[in-house]
Amino acid sequence: MLTYKDIIKEDDPRLRLKSEPVNLPLSKEDIETLLLMNEYLLNGYDEEKAKQLNIRPGVGLSAVQIGILKQMFVICGYDENNNLHHYGVINPKIISHSEQLTFLESGEGCLSVDRETYGLVHRPMRITAKCTLFDFETFETKKTTLKLKGYMAIVFQHEYDHLHGILFFDHINKQNPFFVPSNSTPVSFSEK
Ligand code: NI
Repeated sequence: MLTYKDIIKEDDPRLRLKSEPVNLPLSKEDIETLLLMNEYLLNGYDEEKAKQLNIRPGVGLSAVQIGILKQMFVICGYDENNNLHHYGVINPKIISHSEQLTFLESGEGCLSVDRETYGLVHRPMRITAKCTLFDFETFETKKTTLKLKGYMAIVFQHEYDHLHGILFFDHINKQNPFFVPSNSTPVSFSEK
C-alpha cells in the first residue's frame, strides 16, 4: 500500500524526466502499479483511513510520482456537475485542445509539491486525448478517445504534464502570478 511518504517530492530529479510508453498488453507489474495508485486515491476519499494511513488526498497520481517512469496515471475526481470521472490512463496523447482557457481560482496543487504556491495555471478549457484506459474491475484495457472539459480537463493536463517532466508551477506567470488572460475563465463548481 502507498502512503504519502512513497510519493516523490519536487526536489527529486526523476520528476523532470520524460516517462516511457507502456507496453501492451500490460505486464503484471504495470497492473500492480495502476492498482496501487488507484488504491492511494480511493483511500484519500476515506477521511478516517487517510488520517490513519497518512494519505494526503488527491484527484490524480502519475506513475513517475512513485518513481516509475512509465506513461500511466490514475484520475479520480468529481467534475463541476458532481459527476465522477475515474480513469486509469495509459500512453495518453492530447490530439487537440480549445483556444479558450480555464483555471482554478484557488490555484493548482500537487501531491509532489508539499508547500504553499501562489499563482494561477491557465490551461485549455477542452481537450481531446487518445489513450488506453484500464478497467479497475476487469483489468481489461481498451483504446479510446476521451473528450474532457473544465475541471477534469485541468486534472488530465496536470497529470499529462507529469509524464513530460513538467510541474504545474512551471505554467505560473512569473511577473504577474495572478494574471488572467482575456480568453480564460475560472472553473465554477456547483453546490454539492
Ligand atoms: Ni501533480
